[in-house]
Amino acid sequence: MAGLVIGYLAVQLSLMSLLLCPSSSTAQHTLGRSSMSVEDHARPFLVSTDGSFSCGFLEAGDNAFTFSVWFTADPNRTAVWSANRDAPVNGRGSRVSFSRDGELALADTNGTTVWSSKTTAGTGNRRGLTVSLRDTGNLVVGDPSTGLAVWQSFEWPTDTLLPSQRFTKQTKLVAGYFSLYFDNDNVLRMLYDGPEIASIYWPLPGLTVFENGRTNYNSTRIAILDDAGVFLSSDQTKAEATDLGLGIKRRITIEQDGNLRMYSLNASTGGWAVTWSALKQPCQAHGLCGKNGLCEYLPSLRCSCLPGYEMVDRRDWRRGCKPTFPVGNCSQGSAPPPSPATAPPQFKFIEVAQTDFFGFDLGYTESITFKQCRDQCMNNCQCTAFSYRLDGRGKCYPKGTLFNGFTSANFPGSIYLKVPLDFNASSPRVSAQRAAGLACGANVTVVTVSADVYGMAPGSNGQWTYFFVFAGVLGVLDILFIATGWWFLSSKQSIPSSLQAGYKMVMTSQFRRFTYRELKGATANFKEELGRGGSGAVYRGVLDGGKVVAVKRLAVDVTMQGDEEFWSEMTVLGRINHINLVRIWGFCSERKHKLLVYEYVENQSLDRHLFDTAEGGGGMSTTTLAWKDRYKIALGTARGLAYLHHECLEWVIHCDMKPENILLTRDFDAKIADFGLAKLSKRDGGAGVELTHMRGTSGYMAPEWALNVPINAKVDVYSFGIVLLEIVVGSRVADQRTEAGEPLQLPQITQALRHVVDSGDVMSLVDARLQGQFNPRQAMEMVRISLACMEDRNSRPTMDDIAKSLTAFDDEDEHPAYHS
Ligand SMILES: *[C@@H]1O[C@H](CO)[C@@H](O)[C@H](O)[C@H]1NC(C)=O
Ligand SMILES: *[C@@H]1O[C@H](CO)[C@@H](O)[C@H](O)[C@H]1NC(C)=O
Ligand SMILES: *[C@@H]1O[C@H](CO)[C@@H](O)[C@H](O)[C@H]1NC(C)=O
Ligand SMILES: *[C@@H]1O[C@H](CO)[C@@H](O)[C@H](O)[C@H]1NC(C)=O
Ligand SMILES: *[C@@H]1O[C@H](CO)[C@@H](O)[C@H](O)[C@H]1NC(C)=O
Ligand SMILES: *[C@@H]1O[C@H](CO)[C@@H](O)[C@H](O)[C@H]1NC(C)=O
Ligand SMILES: *[C@@H]1O[C@H](CO)[C@@H](O)[C@H](O)[C@H]1NC(C)=O
Repeated sequence: MAGLVIGYLAVQLSLMSLLLCPSSSTAQHTLGRSSMSVEDHARPFLVSTDGSFSCGFLEAGDNAFTFSVWFTADPNRTAVWSANRDAPVNGRGSRVSFSRDGELALADTNGTTVWSSKTTAGTGNRRGLTVSLRDTGNLVVGDPSTGLAVWQSFEWPTDTLLPSQRFTKQTKLVAGYFSLYFDNDNVLRMLYDGPEIASIYWPLPGLTVFENGRTNYNSTRIAILDDAGVFLSSDQTKAEATDLGLGIKRRITIEQDGNLRMYSLNASTGGWAVTWSALKQPCQAHGLCGKNGLCEYLPSLRCSCLPGYEMVDRRDWRRGCKPTFPVGNCSQGSAPPPSPATAPPQFKFIEVAQTDFFGFDLGYTESITFKQCRDQCMNNCQCTAFSYRLDGRGKCYPKGTLFNGFTSANFPGSIYLKVPLDFNASSPRVSAQRAAGLACGANVTVVTVSADVYGMAPGSNGQWTYFFVFAGVLGVLDILFIATGWWFLSSKQSIPSSLQAGYKMVMTSQFRRFTYRELKGATANFKEELGRGGSGAVYRGVLDGGKVVAVKRLAVDVTMQGDEEFWSEMTVLGRINHINLVRIWGFCSERKHKLLVYEYVENQSLDRHLFDTAEGGGGMSTTTLAWKDRYKIALGTARGLAYLHHECLEWVIHCDMKPENILLTRDFDAKIADFGLAKLSKRDGGAGVELTHMRGTSGYMAPEWALNVPINAKVDVYSFGIVLLEIVVGSRVADQRTEAGEPLQLPQITQALRHVVDSGDVMSLVDARLQGQFNPRQAMEMVRISLACMEDRNSRPTMDDIAKSLTAFDDEDEHPAYHS
């Protein structure tokens, strides 16, 4: 009996496929057996009958493709569905195929099946199935005889919902760590599910289901966007497009910033316009700025770290911030808290205004005083901060982990952050530091440096002011700031143990804080002095592990700034890592003692090798520095400065480029020292002192230092130009005299250089001690660059340009590292 039925079906199916076969080679709406290779990605695999949708290979990156569906009218081909969103296939040799037995499959170059509709597994004879793209955008593998779908893309959405596509309890929209789904209680929600925490952020977690205008009584769990632009869910979520009406193509997409948006297609341009979004305030999405991060919207989204915290990964805010100060060890979780009577408090609290963190409370107490609340946090090792609100009753929320932080001018509460006793909260740099440590590629620009670089204008404005723009993928849309219910109630959750690990990182990373006693020991009580500069003396030291370091003891006037400010400067400098920059291993900051621990560079500074008259050279330079080494030093220095100026840390300006600050390794590789001390130096000291001893050295300082203008990286370019000239000439530019014995002025120097460039006679300029052993093309390029560096600052090249130009002439020396 059963055999008969199957036999009958088989006959019918093969008849159907016979009928379909002729059309499958021409029609692109429906296909029988067929396949397409990724090399043909210019044409679609399928197009819907009305032409609205296309499907095929979509470029998802460099030589990477997804098999996707998109709106034909969208020139950018925004995918509304993808088979392999997270596993793109190779741009060569990959194939999508619809097999004889009815399976749609995607194979990578090596034949591995990356994705398939799984329509063959255990389903017997599937002959006669077809694949078609419907006018709704639904990609369907179906039985044309019954019209039934065996598999359809509408049941496997990625991040987008199309009109008429049913969103059910089986489906989910996902973008990164964010997802939209029906929760167990029948409510449609959005969840952040990151590596460390999971947290619901829509509808507002502080309100009940009903306060949010939803219901949890309807267990149907279905949501649908209709053709008129109304999105309706069984939990009573209702959203309407602002351009309500038929005939407009729309989609609803959850995006990388955690927001859910409805878009309408502009038929004439093919562009998309937002016509509804779930979150009115972008910072409502959780997880955007990571642990210990603060989200702020003004008027684009910006992440920052709490005072005293720094980014874990400069490229990824989602990884959050970590404390730069040591935190208590909570391993003995069950041990009783130390009583304040026996153990003096090691912490204090600083207020971060208009700020709150959602969730992760260690407890909740009502009707207590501020002091009681503070003591609760003080005595609980796991407490990192607390929130106290006086709205009616005194509500106390000690916080374990600080997640989902936001700052908003409209938020009336504060968070009180637990910090070490020696943490300086009153330092005005705190607010700037909050945003320091930005991701690579973020734009950081020095806006003003007031004249107090000279120590002439002390005062609250006498700080470097940074203007930070977090120009990431987030917050592109200019959504109106609507203060909605920011009063989140708090939920009680415990801290995942994985979080504890984060605190240890700062202690174990290579850059660390040393104690004064430790450094005193390492340097044998500051016995062997290596050198002495305006900002302090440098001593040789040996750390516990045997690592040789240079320890710089900052002069008292450098150390007047706040501890916290110093700390924050250090953590920024500690991340600088480039072959041509002296590495900072750590620092010490204990009351008056401010020390920096540097990499030890064997071969002293450039001036001792370059200038005959170097005092205290200890007879180092018995032989003249060879041309190859000179060029290598010039190139390395340019690369180091280019890194400081352009890569990541755009705002680090050296401010004191001179041969004394270019250290040399045994192989004569240049390593720039003292960078960033510009920002460390005290800014309200006596006038003139800093000018000559601290910032810049006369002879190397750009003319604009004397003008009351904002200083930018071009001051270093000027100084580099002088150094470059000195490398060619072999003596100090400042020591050059006119025939009358007067020091040469800048116009006279540039005039002389211009003459050399015009005449091509570089020989007359090059250090005579080289006895003609030099590369004239390289020398000429150096003179040319040097001249350009002395131009008016807007005409000066950038360090990037310079590094490139010097690299272009580096062909004479292919293996600089092997030269000695
Ligand atoms: C095929 O290539 C993919 C991606 O490069 C790789 O993950 C997979 O292991 C390869 N499979 C085989 C059988 O080589
Ligand atoms: C549940 O929701 C569905 C879809 O929105 C609706 O058709 C149905 O009437 C609702 N049921 C109840 C009991 O409200
Ligand atoms: C489509 O875009 C054009 C150009 O930006 C604009 O003038 C037009 O109003 C848009 N149409 C709709 C329906 O938004
Ligand atoms: C396509 O994308 C680019 C870059 O995101 C954007 O500038 C352009 O406006 C988009 N084109 C349309 C028609 O939306
Ligand atoms: C924390 O304390 C525990 C138990 O005393 C100890 O085993 C562990 O090494 C300590 N961790 C740190 C980082 O001090
Ligand atoms: C903290 O910094 C401020 C401003 O820089 C300074 O006036 C104050 O003396 C510092 N306090 C401590 C304890 O270092
Ligand atoms: C930073 O912003 C300035 C001015 O807005 C712009 O000229 C510069 O190209 C930007 N830099 C980067 C790296 O985006």
